[in-house]
Amino acid sequence: MLKNDTFLRALLREPVSHTPLWIMRQAGRYLPEYNATRSRAGNFLNLCKSPDLATEVTLQPLARYSLDAAILFSDILTIPDAMGLGLYFAEGEGPRFERPIRDEWEVRNLTAPDPEVSLRYVLDAVSQIRRTLAGSVPLIGFSGSPFTLACYMVEGGGSEDFRHIKGMLYRRPDLLHRILEINTQAVIQYLNAQIEAGAQAVMVFDTWGGVLSSPAYREFSLHYLSMIAAGLTRHAEGRKVPSIVFTKGGGLWLEAIADAGFDAVGLDWTVEISDARRRVGAQVALQGNMDPMVLFGNSDSIRSEVQRILSGFGSGSGHVFNLGHGITRFTDPEQVAVLVDAVHELSRPFHEENL
Ligand code: CP3
Repeated sequence: MLKNDTFLRALLREPVSHTPLWIMRQAGRYLPEYNATRSRAGNFLNLCKSPDLATEVTLQPLARYSLDAAILFSDILTIPDAMGLGLYFAEGEGPRFERPIRDEWEVRNLTAPDPEVSLRYVLDAVSQIRRTLAGSVPLIGFSGSPFTLACYMVEGGGSEDFRHIKGMLYRRPDLLHRILEINTQAVIQYLNAQIEAGAQAVMVFDTWGGVLSSPAYREFSLHYLSMIAAGLTRHAEGRKVPSIVFTKGGGLWLEAIADAGFDAVGLDWTVEISDARRRVGAQVALQGNMDPMVLFGNSDSIRSEVQRILSGFGSGSGHVFNLGHGITRFTDPEQVAVLVDAVHELSRPFHEENL
């Protein structure tokens, strides 16, 4: 039995006593204890690949703040790493692949990894985190979207203009579709394996879908997101396993995204949450959407932004508070405490009919 299931209930638009919150990248470099564990591990990848250390850092933000969910500590790039692309992190430069996928021959040789074999360390971390959480709050599993994974696989790392993947999209759409089909199978198997290992909700991060034109978004990202929604395990341990999809920059396409088949839609901070609720709130729960930079204000400005977002969503369930993207490494941990307390305190009046 879960002691605090507000997060799962809000995703299913069931009544709650307060608006639940968690923070994208809640276990990360803004926390000194994270940096200490990371230096013990030697580097970020060792941290991801050790179930003991991944469990330790997953729990760090929960020891500090009364967050309503834990998120598996891992990375979206574990899938392409398991496909054999050779993931590494160049210090200060973000993720890179030794063997990016560029030509026909490389695409033909690509296969979906068996998560039970090559992503065993993630599944072991999921089971260990679940045991350690001991029913306090739910655990979120996650994956990158097929398109976002393809961005890193084809570019060979982060990119400013996405010229390799967009070049492929316009020149050889058949090759990109082949990569996306394989990624889709990989994501479905990976998320279902995480659910089997104990993940109680899952989220798909489509960080780069928003760089596409509207028709390209539908064809190369949303289409595959819908296939994932259709392939996910929906029940485990006698309850529903809610799913969240987040396309950064997807505000223009909310109706289409809400139709993809997920229980909840993540919003970045460019979207007005009252508009989002009016547009799709009868169909899906909403997660978001405070600008991470609000945490660089002061207690008063943080509380007033929280109030603005909570009032924007309005009364009733169906809102999970979060940032509109990951928390930055330069954030003061004290400001996060202000945020967490503000959401819990200021959201109660919006749920009063349930008390
Ligand atoms: O939310 C959480 O707390 C769970 C952990 C998590 C990480 N990455 C840890 C991480 C999650 C959910 C991710 C997802 C992820 N990874 C995404 C999608 C979400 C998003 O932020 O858009 C993407 C695009 C990646 C790829 C990735 N991993 C990048 C671009 C980087 C470098 C980022 C940077 O700030 O330098 C990473 C590394 C990474 N993943 C870190 C963490 C805590 C920092 C690594 C370190 O300790 O050096």
